[in-house]
Amino acid sequence: MGISAPGGAVHREVTMKRIGVLSSGGDSPGMNAAIRAVVRTAAYHGLDVFGIELGYQGLIDGRIRKMDARAVSGIIARGGTILKTARCQAFFDPAGRATAAQQLAVHGIEGLVVIGGDGSYQGAQKLHDEHGIKCIGMPGTIDNDIGGTDFTIGYDTALNIAVEAIDRIRDTAAAHERIFFVEVMGRHSGYIAMMSGIAGGAEEILVPETPTDIPQLVENLRNGRAKGKMSSIIVVAEGDEAGHAIEIAAKVAEISEFKDTRVTVIGHLQRGGTPTAFDRILASRLGVLAVEALIEGETGKMTGISGNDVVLCPLSDAWEKRTRFNPSFLDVARKLAT
Ligand code: ADP
Ligand code: F6P
Repeated sequence: MGISAPGGAVHREVTMKRIGVLSSGGDSPGMNAAIRAVVRTAAYHGLDVFGIELGYQGLIDGRIRKMDARAVSGIIARGGTILKTARCQAFFDPAGRATAAQQLAVHGIEGLVVIGGDGSYQGAQKLHDEHGIKCIGMPGTIDNDIGGTDFTIGYDTALNIAVEAIDRIRDTAAAHERIFFVEVMGRHSGYIAMMSGIAGGAEEILVPETPTDIPQLVENLRNGRAKGKMSSIIVVAEGDEAGHAIEIAAKVAEISEFKDTRVTVIGHLQRGGTPTAFDRILASRLGVLAVEALIEGETGKMTGISGNDVVLCPLSDAWEKRTRFNPSFLDVARKLAT
């Protein structure tokens, strides 16, 4: 027997009846659009869908509620996640995962959509391997640092917030002929720094993936002055191995004449606010794919975008095929900072 969709098209039989959805790890703008897409796609195909609050912690604690199509009305434009999110120590422990599996069984949930980064996927992989739970991942993190997808949900929004901040800093930096250090997020990833640096026309970009040479940085600033650059913007990824922006500014002051610089840390501003159209569309497309993958019997997979196509690949691609750092972007920034 096939199921009839609202448009009259006949789909293959749906054996899965109940799915769950949770968000996990650091929140990212577009997670709500992802939740909406999962809930609405489930409703479209006649599945029951349960929202699990606070990621794996809420799963262990049984913070699980049924959602219908109207439960996600009006959230596509909202940042954060209506399901809330968490990092959960207990889930690293097999006993915690066993409790989580029991909670799913109690609610009759047969498949789980996990919206998060590669850490959340590693948890999902274990839930799948140890307890046979069908799991599909959706990439939700601002860092854009996981394999299996060209872009993660939230990255575009965070990038645009960082660029807007750099543009504003540029005005005041130029007005006072100052050097500014602007710190953007990315504990292990320089992706936001690199791209916001290019889009914001930064003079320097410091990322964890390449060694930071403070004397060379000073030399570059001097050369800039000699060429008439009276203000400069140095974008620093929070995870740069030379330290946070404030420490790097102090190191520069210590060895040079550039003692009166300013530091701006954009921080969590990058994680909040309304998602861009790009992130909403990405979340919507991947949400449809995630639910239909579960219906098709897929498991242990993540959804992603490759080129402009949505794709499914193993969850392990997220950490095994981590997006490689591409230094050619830094090269572009360097040439254009002449
Ligand atoms: P992200 O998903 O954004 O990478 P984290 O790395 O903080 O965020 O992971 C989120 C949560 O996923 C962790 O707090 C933990 O509950 C779970 N998790 C992460 N890594 C593992 C792992 N190796 N085994 C089991 N659970 C994990
Ligand atoms: O993974 C996303 C991210 O925003 C990183 O860029 C940042 O280092 C980290 O999360 C900060 O997380 P939190 O402040 O939630 O601990």
